[in-house]
Amino acid sequence: MSDKERLVIFDTTLRDGEQSPGATMNQEEKLRIAKALERMRVDVIEAGFAIASPGDFASVKAVAEAVKDCRICSLARAADADIDRAAEALKGANAARIHTFIATSPIHMKHKLRMEPESVVERAVAAVKRARNLVDDVEFSCEDAGRSELDFLCRIIEAAIDAGARTINIPDTVGYALPHQFGETITQLIARIPNSDKAVFSVHCHNDLGLAVANSEAAVLAGARQVECTINGLGERAGNASLEELVMAIATRHDAFPVYTNIKTEEIVPCSRLVSTITGFPVQPNKAIVGANAFAHEAGIHQDGVLKHRETYEIMRAEQVGWNANRMVLGKHSGRAAFADRLDSLGVQFETKEALNNAFARFKELADKKHEIFDEDLQALVSDTYRASDMRVKLVDLSVSSVMGETPEAEISLSVDDKEHSAKAKGSGPVDATFKAIEEIVNSGTNLLLYSVNAITSGTDSQGEVTVRLEKGGSVVNGSGADTDIVIASAKAYLDALNLILSDYSKAHPQSDGV
Ligand code: KIV
Ligand code: ZN
Repeated sequence: MSDKERLVIFDTTLRDGEQSPGATMNQEEKLRIAKALERMRVDVIEAGFAIASPGDFASVKAVAEAVKDCRICSLARAADADIDRAAEALKGANAARIHTFIATSPIHMKHKLRMEPESVVERAVAAVKRARNLVDDVEFSCEDAGRSELDFLCRIIEAAIDAGARTINIPDTVGYALPHQFGETITQLIARIPNSDKAVFSVHCHNDLGLAVANSEAAVLAGARQVECTINGLGERAGNASLEELVMAIATRHDAFPVYTNIKTEEIVPCSRLVSTITGFPVQPNKAIVGANAFAHEAGIHQDGVLKHRETYEIMRAEQVGWNANRMVLGKHSGRAAFADRLDSLGVQFETKEALNNAFARFKELADKKHEIFDEDLQALVSDTYRASDMRVKLVDLSVSSVMGETPEAEISLSVDDKEHSAKAKGSGPVDATFKAIEEIVNSGTNLLLYSVNAITSGTDSQGEVTVRLEKGGSVVNGSGADTDIVIASAKAYLDALNLILSDYSKAHPQSDGV
């Protein structure tokens, strides 16, 4: 490894990942993900966009205070208020970074910013200088660099480095680049910018053409030494480069890359499951590295080969990325101390004794139905417990009749702002009947965009994890719920989404022109 350079892994699941429509996470959920990223040893965690909303500010602050082994970063547009807010949120961090950006492509400067290139350079320089007065570590990004002119990029980057930026990020914001061309852009920038040796070059690729990982890899081969990525490739529109794919390509093809990462790869699958549970974005079964089928051999000829000599068809070991790590951790006879201890090692601490007791009571209920409780079960249970605590509409009771040849019927009781209501409805199936019964009471006016069910662990006693995506007035939210009974899990997920619609979750978008 001595002749290789370190590649900085910058995770933006909590910021760009949260920009996936419906992927809003609350502070407690962000903290749990940040702790999992720390266990995985990512170098930099972009914890949010501090100025976006009071909730975002609080989350960046909480992550900065709780996570000590990673550098914590907040995004900020190239504007004084954004930069000051980011610095304020990062005060408690061991190592803080402000990531400031401005658009540099002709189309963005003309139509979004309505600024002349000259003024864009001035604003970038002012932003970097202001940020450097507040923290030592400043990253500057040229938004839409993938469609920017090379000469202009050279000019603005040279000025940003002179102003004190120590990381220069080249985002392919709209996922337009092609690997050979993007690699060449990085080569040219490093060669042509006179002070390029004073900064680490970074890339941030979106996946609109399915090329985010390939473009990032081409950039690394051309000299980039930081990649920005997300767990499960979550992110705005088609998402960002997926951390697990990048890290495992570098680990598996170490013959081809001049770099290594510090990632503890065994934490990849647990972290992927956690992000999926919290965001309600299921991982497709054929997704590389973290999909359920990623290491499954179906064809007899493959199975035969693997049994005779594993390397015939496997280029990585499942255990290397944390498959099979979901060992049984707790059971029916486990006590409160063992429960709290296991959660503590997953980064979950309860603020009050009551909250712990509440979660423990749910754990006991689950352990009565399911013999073996895995980490994934605990994560789902904690999500449920936290969500339930601040819901306006809560599930009180549900009974469903589903008899072959008859129309299923659901009878539900809900507590709405602490007042109990009941309703009955028929539907094409038990879940349909349940959602209709909920709507009899709530009459939310939402549209159901997506309904999906996943088994959290293997076995027929597994909890079903349900995702429900609702839309109202252009806002999209994802709700999730878990239970060994999938109709109850579905009701929980529907109510989770409804509660998000009812709460005020409006916030500024980082790529808006409101600078
Ligand atoms: O995609 C993008 O350009 C971004 C920047 C803010 C880095 O997310
Ligand atoms: Zn982005």
